Amino acid sequence: MATIKQALVQANTLQQVSESWKLDAELLLAEAIAQSREYLFTWPNQELTESQLKKFDDYCGRRRLNEPVAYILGRQAFWDFELIVNPSVLIPRPETELLVETALELLDNSAIAVVLDLGTGSGAIALALAANNKRWVVTAVDSSESALGVAADNAKLLQLSNIEFIQTSWCDGLPTDHFDLIAANPPYVEAGDKHLSEGSLPFEPIAALVARENGLADIRAISEQSRHCLKKDSWLLIEHGFQQKQDVEKILVDTGYANIECVKDLAGLDRLTKARYVN
Ligand SMILES: C[S@@+](CC[C@H](N)C(=O)[O-])C[C@H]1O[C@@H](n2cnc3c(N)ncnc32)[C@H](O)[C@@H]1O
Repeated sequence: MATIKQALVQANTLQQVSESWKLDAELLLAEAIAQSREYLFTWPNQELTESQLKKFDDYCGRRRLNEPVAYILGRQAFWDFELIVNPSVLIPRPETELLVETALELLDNSAIAVVLDLGTGSGAIALALAANNKRWVVTAVDSSESALGVAADNAKLLQLSNIEFIQTSWCDGLPTDHFDLIAANPPYVEAGDKHLSEGSLPFEPIAALVARENGLADIRAISEQSRHCLKKDSWLLIEHGFQQKQDVEKILVDTGYANIECVKDLAGLDRLTKARYVN
């Protein structure tokens, strides 16, 4: 049998797939023994039971095949909470917190706001906004029934009731002239992009990642359709690829938006664009 410390050292085979292999191993071992990461450092000489070791070996085996830690654990940290995730939803990325921050700045703590999250996946964006102000009314849309099931479970977990989930394609059937802000992190990767076969991406739903027209088809559809759903002078925020700034700007100009501005993430990359519907 091995101790906690020995098991973590033996997990160095994860180096083949992960730069953050030490952290991965700690998270997986903590899960296997149903304890916190801190527990591992407090009790490094504790012997693992046979079943704990087997569980940890299984998790490491899955990780060596590149399965993301979030899917193995079934959860991912986002904003100031943890979300349930499974392979029917994209694993929420830290960059997407910029979309939440920008939305909160634009909503400026309004007493009441009606907000739409297009392509909600795990519910990450919608839930962060709904949690910020329980008087805000948030609608979260996805075309995937299984993704909406995960998002609804997350709403229950976070005890948020100011959010409704609708299965539809982008704005199909949504009310017109209704929302104070629309946020979207749509699929924007070009089909055939080499990154699709790297890292966690092969495990994530293709419908969450890839869009036609060099990755721009869904951004175009959202820009066109959102105009009808936004109240006058309200904001559309779209997350996009860091090389899509100019294409997205052109789409937004062509579809009649104003005050178009790209926002950079912490790495200095063009991460999202905000635009105001003024007509
Ligand atoms: C990039 S993921 C974003 C998930 C989540 N908002 C996040 O930021 O982690 C895009 C989401 O859009 C959904 N989607 C794709 N096509 C759609 C469509 N036509 N209408 C609505 N949702 C769609 C996918 O199912 C997926 O959940």
